[in-house]
Amino acid sequence: MRNALVIGNWKMNGETAANHTLVASLVESLEVSPVGSVEVGICPPAVYLHSVGLQLEGSVVSLGAQNLSEHDAGAYTGEVSAAMLRDVGCHMVIVGHSERRSLYYEDDEQVAAKTLAALRAGLKPVLCVGETLAQRESGEALDVVARQLCAAVSGLEADEFERLVVAYEPVWAIGTGKTASPEQAQEVHAHIRTVLVRVAGVAGQNVQLLYGGSVNADNAAELFAKPDIDGGLIGGASLKANDFIAICRAAAVAG
Ligand code: PGA
Repeated sequence: MRNALVIGNWKMNGETAANHTLVASLVESLEVSPVGSVEVGICPPAVYLHSVGLQLEGSVVSLGAQNLSEHDAGAYTGEVSAAMLRDVGCHMVIVGHSERRSLYYEDDEQVAAKTLAALRAGLKPVLCVGETLAQRESGEALDVVARQLCAAVSGLEADEFERLVVAYEPVWAIGTGKTASPEQAQEVHAHIRTVLVRVAGVAGQNVQLLYGGSVNADNAAELFAKPDIDGGLIGGASLKANDFIAICRAAAVAG
C-alpha cells in the first residue's frame, strides 16, 4: 500500500518574510484539518532550507531540496552535498528535474550519481523523468522515460528502492499550463511501474510515482484518481498556500 505524496517545488522563488507566511498557512491548515495518510513536503531554494526547516519542526510537512552535488565533500565551489542537506533537516531531494537537465546540462550519468549520493546520505531521491514535446510527437515518450529511469535505478539495491520516489514530468507540461491528460499520465506511470517491477521485483510495486506539470487545484483530483498516480510534484501552485493545500486535500480524497 503506497501513501499519497504531494511535494511543492518552489524553484527559484521566495524570500524570508513571504516564505514564513506561506509555511505558516500551510502548517496551520494541515494541523486544523489533517490530510490523513497523505505525505506532504516542500522544497525551498537551498539558502532558505535552514529557516524553513526550523519553521516546519513538529509539523507534518517534511523538508526537501531541489538539487544536490553528486560528490560527498571537497573542492566543488558553489555546490551543496547530500550530507549538508541532511544536516539542515532535509528528508528528500529532487534529482534530475528537467530544468536541471536542459539548463544545466545534467545527463543521465550525473543524475544517476546524484541519486546514489542522495541515498548514501539517507535522503529520499525524487527522481524526475519526462519527455519533450518533440519526443512525444514522434512516439518516443515511453522509451525516453524508461531510458532515463533505468539509467538512474538499474544499479540500486532492493532496500534503496524503498526510499526512491519517481516523478513523471513531461517537459511540455512544466510551467506551461498544459497538463497531461489523466489518461496520458496514467499510461506513462503504468509503464514506469512495469519497468520498476522488472528491475526491482516487489520493491518496484511500492515506489511512489508522482505526476508533475501544471498540476493545480482544479485538475489534481482527476489525475490523482488514476491507479498509478500516487501524488504530485507541484511547481507554480505550491507558491500559493490555498492552491497547494487544495492539491494536498485532493490527494487525501483520491487516497
Ligand atoms: P509546474 O512545475 O507545476 O509549475 O508546472 C512542476 C515542476 O517543474 O516540478
